[in-house]
Amino acid sequence: MEKKKIYITRKLPQAIYTKLADEFEVKMWDKEDQPVPREILMEEVKEIDGLFCLLTETIDREVIENAPRLKVIANMAVGYNNIDIDTATEKGIVVTNTPGVLTETTADLTFALLMATARRVIEASDYLRNGEWKTWSPMQLTGQDIHGATLGIIGMGRIGQALVKRAKGFDMNVAYYNRSRKPEIEEEMGIRYMGLEELLQQSDYVSLLIPYSPAVHHLIGKKELSLMKQSAILINTARGGIVDESALFNALKTGEIWAAGLDVFEVEPMLLDSPLLTLPNVVTLPHIGSASEKTRLKMADLAAENIIHVLNGGAPITAVNG
Ligand code: DGY
Repeated sequence: MEKKKIYITRKLPQAIYTKLADEFEVKMWDKEDQPVPREILMEEVKEIDGLFCLLTETIDREVIENAPRLKVIANMAVGYNNIDIDTATEKGIVVTNTPGVLTETTADLTFALLMATARRVIEASDYLRNGEWKTWSPMQLTGQDIHGATLGIIGMGRIGQALVKRAKGFDMNVAYYNRSRKPEIEEEMGIRYMGLEELLQQSDYVSLLIPYSPAVHHLIGKKELSLMKQSAILINTARGGIVDESALFNALKTGEIWAAGLDVFEVEPMLLDSPLLTLPNVVTLPHIGSASEKTRLKMADLAAENIIHVLNGGAPITAVNG
């Protein structure tokens, strides 16, 4: 019997490739640090049954309609705003993501970014390396305290809850805003629900941990930033589109808020002429929330397993539709 065909949009670790190649006819884009060009993707999907993709690929109606045999799209990410879910569903294609396996690692990075931003870790390191450290002085490179401060988390899913555990270990008070209230989590974790405006006004740190959809595009814009404390810090490890970056630049430049730690951007890779990069009070990372060796392997493995399950006629492990 003819083997089912898979296309993988980025060079994967050998073990994951082999797992898929043992069962299917597999073709893989062979570059690790370069996404597959759109025109090649459009060609490659024509006869495939399964697609293994990353958040760097836009899987829209045009791609899906070019792939009449496609049964499963496995995204190696928990977020799936790069995929047109409605079209996939309409065509009977299962879309899967990788929740759960990256929760703790992403919460670790979120807290690391919060700490690095609050205590100006990157700026201080550069200060030393640039030969600016002439003496110890009382207010040199002073930042914001983490212990005892209020952390407002927007989005109380898995990663939000994992962040609460870290914050509690640092004696922070935690408030959250979410589409729906979660009374059992409030009780269990000792956190308070607040409306969005109140949370922005009360928090020393605001951490964004909601999935991106057009409904939350620029959820944090000029008005929201103006509600925040002048000493407040914004941390975004979710998706860039949730924040209006030009409003954020103005708020940081004029001292309306104190600093921002960003792992995600409206355009990725972040453009090097972005005005945000001219500010000392911004810590920028290249979308590394889930980037630990173990977690990235688990994500790739889960995506591969989802393809194997669906193409063998079973149920997907982590479907986002259907
Ligand atoms: C995701 O999974 O959505 C992250 O952004 C990358 O790990």
